[in-house]
Amino acid sequence: MTDPVKLAVVYYSSTGTVAELARTLAGEAEKAGARVRLRRVAELAPDAAIDSNPAWRANLDATRDVPEASPDDVVWADGVLFGSPTRFGNVAAQLKQFVDTLGGLWQQGLLQDKAYSGFTASGTLHGGQESTLLALYNTIHHIGGIVVAPGYTDPVKFADGNPYGTSHVNPQGQHPVDDTARAAAAVQARRVVAVAQALRDGLAPALAAQSQLARA
Ligand SMILES: Cc1cc2nc3c(=O)[nH]c(=O)nc-3n(C[C@H](O)[C@H](O)[C@H](O)COP(=O)(O)O)c2cc1C
Repeated sequence: MTDPVKLAVVYYSSTGTVAELARTLAGEAEKAGARVRLRRVAELAPDAAIDSNPAWRANLDATRDVPEASPDDVVWADGVLFGSPTRFGNVAAQLKQFVDTLGGLWQQGLLQDKAYSGFTASGTLHGGQESTLLALYNTIHHIGGIVVAPGYTDPVKFADGNPYGTSHVNPQGQHPVDDTARAAAAVQARRVVAVAQALRDGLAPALAAQSQLARA
């Protein structure tokens, strides 16, 4: 019996959409046999900004029990799912800030050769979901991670229509996460768990052996 694959779901969410996608992905990864850490990154916005939007304050209060992400969660994991709402077509500063604290771990070779994938939400169709995920994947390329996009690998992916990662359109909370997004999340979670396991058990040791950045 092999050890379960370890998956970290690390997200930022202001008003709860990405948080719900994160919970869905975490649950699907557990169903696929993974040991999962669900983690939210620290909120950096000032209280005045948070209190300007009741949904923002409500989501922050509702997710206080979700442990805050730490760099160790990424080191621990064989696979990482990063989630962020679209912010002007880009990754939210809160998630970016977390990722930007990982530089020392990258230099030690502790981030490479894992499976990474992303998920997002926007307020409008064509509102920047794909550019957000591609921006996130820039970082993965730089740290030597293996990008595991869901692609059009399952019929349900033709319904949600985003081969780069699970995504959902939710302007101001009127369209909560639906069955289409949940089905896409299940495909993505299963795929990331499978690739993370294959990497851990096969390819990652071989990649590490030829890298100058030895794992600590
Ligand atoms: C500062 C800011 C910038 C945003 N930029 C975009 C954008 O470029 N395109 C878009 O469709 N939605 C944009 N949105 C809307 C959010 O991405 C969208 O409501 C998302 O579903 C929120 O996810 P959350 O509920 O997890 O916070 C923006 C929202 C904020 C607050």
